[in-house]
Amino acid sequence: MYKLNDPTLLRCHSYINGSWHASEKLLKVTNPATGEVVAEVSDASIQETNLAVKAAKSALKMWAATPAGQRAGLMRKWFDLMMAHQDDLATLLTLEQGKPLAEAKGEIAYGAAYIEWFAEEGKRAYGDTIPALTSDKRIVVIKQPVGVVASITPWNFPNAMIARKAAAALAAGCTFIGRPASQTPLSALAMAELAERAGIPAGVFNIVVGNDAQGIGKVLTQHPDIAKFTFTGSTGIGKKLIAQCATTVKKVSMELGGNAPFIVFDDADVDAAIQGALVSKYRNAGQTCVCTNRIFVQSGVLDEFTEKFSQAVQQLQIGNGLSDGVAIGPMISEKAVADVEQLVKDSVAQGAKIAVGGQVDNNGSHFYQPTILTNVSNEMPIAKNEIFGPVSPIIAFENEEDVISMANDTEYGLAAYFYSRDIGRVWRVSEALDFGMVGVNEGIISNAAAPFGGVKQSGNGREGSKYGLDDYMEIKYLCMGGI
Ligand code: SIN
Repeated sequence: MYKLNDPTLLRCHSYINGSWHASEKLLKVTNPATGEVVAEVSDASIQETNLAVKAAKSALKMWAATPAGQRAGLMRKWFDLMMAHQDDLATLLTLEQGKPLAEAKGEIAYGAAYIEWFAEEGKRAYGDTIPALTSDKRIVVIKQPVGVVASITPWNFPNAMIARKAAAALAAGCTFIGRPASQTPLSALAMAELAERAGIPAGVFNIVVGNDAQGIGKVLTQHPDIAKFTFTGSTGIGKKLIAQCATTVKKVSMELGGNAPFIVFDDADVDAAIQGALVSKYRNAGQTCVCTNRIFVQSGVLDEFTEKFSQAVQQLQIGNGLSDGVAIGPMISEKAVADVEQLVKDSVAQGAKIAVGGQVDNNGSHFYQPTILTNVSNEMPIAKNEIFGPVSPIIAFENEEDVISMANDTEYGLAAYFYSRDIGRVWRVSEALDFGMVGVNEGIISNAAAPFGGVKQSGNGREGSKYGLDDYMEIKYLCMGGI
């Protein structure tokens, strides 16, 4: 049982043009830890999605013309409300997504931080002047909001993924339509409730909840009134959405899959590396795009690392995210558990050894034990695929050159991590890793001030930081003659 301090944060209809839209069809939101139905939410269709586009289009002129300082003031109120309701928002998030409550509270603060950051950054959308070629001309560059922005976001961060897209969009002067994952719509709807309370005008922030991923996705990627589309999710779906966006040449930004290497060199502080690997791998039961996917350990510290890491992983408590002390919650679905189980089985068949875990947990069919595999090679399926579950494959290596080549041997390029205390190596390896983000002696690197994003098939664009605002702005060149 759970209780919200403010039960009106539990909203069950799509939020379009400042009002709540009921539909006849309902979709069930279930708690992955227990299988219980948490809420029944209106299942919006293409029709409601078109209404949201219309609303966002109508509000655009007004919002774009609102001075950046005023937009910042409203966004600051939104941030304050999210932090004031952090406990309730975290409870809803754990109920629909499963992550431990402490992590859910962390996600609310993380998501809210993007709203605070971009509220300020919107005031600094500076243009430029450029020396002209002739004395009777001036070259001026101004930045303007892209227009209506649509997003599709995943179930693994039901609050933060919407927050970091919507915050940049609203700060830039764009209006926004979000389609959250249908497994986890409650966090998004609670954000809409708080946006309304903060005074964000009708039509500026819209949330459409619906099971019809293809139908809604087509509207959001092909509607001519939408100028920009942004997506967080798998590389496979991302490719299809990019192709759909091509029909109207939308600006796109994509935060897609990863296959993060985590490298421990002989000269590393092994205890610090273990702490980094624990958070980087087992956060959200391994279900993040930046989670460590392959742990490479140099031969000189292999035994020490494996032994100490195994001891630490055995201490991780698995269970319902609402219970005290739980570090690993359920996975999102039985299918997700089955996929991880299969990867482990296939790798064991090819010679990997289970050092810790390796089973579906007694807590139920949504729980997979925190697991460590040793004797793994970079060619095994567990190293080639994005695991998206609580499994650490450990791969031994001998030298820097080999490990860089193995780490880069993937089509993905989102996050990478390494531990070393040699300053020369720190620079060499940082520069040689083909990834958009590198944690050096750090296992958690995401924050609002930093540019989050990948290279290769992990996507394009950056979220957060001063670079994140540019993704929601167009550059306009003014050639001023006759001077
Ligand atoms: C993701 O998994 O896509 C986001 C992870 C993060 O923001 O740290």
